[in-house]
Amino acid sequence: MKSPHPDIERVLIPTHEIQTRIAQLGKQITQDYKGESLVLVCVLKGAFLFMADLCRHIDLPVNTEFMAISSYGHATKSSGVVRILKDLNECIEDRNVLIVEDIVDTGLTLSYLVDLLATRHPRSLKVCTLCSKPQCHQREVKIDYCGFELPSEFAVGYGLDFKDFYRNLPFIGILKPIMYENDL
Ligand code: PRP
Repeated sequence: MKSPHPDIERVLIPTHEIQTRIAQLGKQITQDYKGESLVLVCVLKGAFLFMADLCRHIDLPVNTEFMAISSYGHATKSSGVVRILKDLNECIEDRNVLIVEDIVDTGLTLSYLVDLLATRHPRSLKVCTLCSKPQCHQREVKIDYCGFELPSEFAVGYGLDFKDFYRNLPFIGILKPIMYENDL
């Protein structure tokens, strides 16, 4: 199949598959939290597209919160040391909290966030990620809802970026190595 973008080697997950899977996740979450309300915590920037689509498939009273974080260290690798650029607006004590991520790579970011939010005494704390790279996990993190498992290649699109580009691609694809070789 012809690549839909000159910088993309191949499409990994086409748009329609992403949307179908998000609808399934939303339905599952709606069933699991039946009779409850939910705070969705979007981890910026990558998760903003996933959050926007996912919340429209959740038929519950939902609050939307946003955290902006930045990893220290090398630009293409997570160090696990996370600086909070924007914290939650509201208190999550005694609330059902669902962290919404675009990708769990090493798991260091998520591990930090789960530990941090747990100190705020939510009623429940779960994780929903669009993608996970199980081969890259360095930390054991419990993922309650996962859209797709990806290989350990450089994936971009649908929120996933390289140098803040490609987030707007409606599919997830593998970036051509020539695009990032000089940065490794
Ligand atoms: C990405 C992604 C996760 C994190 C996962 O964020 O959105 O938050 O990396 O990596 P890890 O499992 O190895 O910790 P990034 O810091 O690239 O910021 P972004 O969301 O703005 O792209």
